[in-house]
Amino acid sequence: MTIEVRAARAGDAKKMGALHAARINEGFLASLGEGFLTRLYRRVAASPDAFAAVAVDERGEVVGFVATALNVSTLYRRFIVRDGAVAAIASASKLVRSWRRVLETLRYPSHASQLPAPEVLSVAVAASAAGRGVGRALLASAQRELERREVQAVKVVTGSHNTAAMALYRSAGFHEVETIEVHAGVQSTVLVWNAPILHVVHDRGAK
Ligand SMILES: CC(C)(COP(=O)(O)OP(=O)(O)OC[C@H]1O[C@@H](n2cnc3c(N)ncnc32)[C@H](O)[C@@H]1OP(=O)(O)O)[C@@H](O)C(=O)NCCC(=O)NCCS
Repeated sequence: MTIEVRAARAGDAKKMGALHAARINEGFLASLGEGFLTRLYRRVAASPDAFAAVAVDERGEVVGFVATALNVSTLYRRFIVRDGAVAAIASASKLVRSWRRVLETLRYPSHASQLPAPEVLSVAVAASAAGRGVGRALLASAQRELERREVQAVKVVTGSHNTAAMALYRSAGFHEVETIEVHAGVQSTVLVWNAPILHVVHDRGAK
């Protein structure tokens, strides 16, 4: 299988929303449904301080994606202001059912001030393409983009029991910082990746 990783475009948002709904069952976002997720990823693709990449197979099918925000609070605020009305109407019943989780997730970044603001929001690979290095390639592309933007560190929150995700993040150089309960009764692990420090050697030349 030949896989290409490229920057996500607005047109990829529907497939990203579908992949999120199909593959990620932790966190409240998944419970809001594909329509809501599609709007969120469209907003990510259009935001200057968020970015996403997709993995595309030889038939042009999107088989995975990774989404990153430089500041989650700013992204969610922009999403609520610019897309909120439409998104809320579309998933009104689901929002009402899971409002407690919405509040917990929106609150989480603000009481974690010692952690880096940038966050990997989600990474998912289609079941048919899993276990072949696609997740690793996607995460590597996010890490390259963070370095290009001179971001020094990024965090990610994932279910402590999510063996595949924990293995992926560890293999990409993330280290565990703490275990928390974003949602009551569910253990999540916060991991952080620090970009390699660039040592500039001034070579003044031999005299
Ligand atoms: C997590 C996920 C994105 C990994 O993608 P993937 O393409 O299957 O992973 P890769 O093949 O690139 O493997 C990356 C590393 O994780 C390990 N890994 C992958 N799946 C694993 C599994 N089920 N159990 C144990 N380790 C696993 C691989 O061995 C590899 O480690 P290595 O580099 O040390 O060899 C994928 O399993 C997935 O989409 N899961 C559902 C969505 C999810 O839970 N996302 C994370 C929360 S947002």
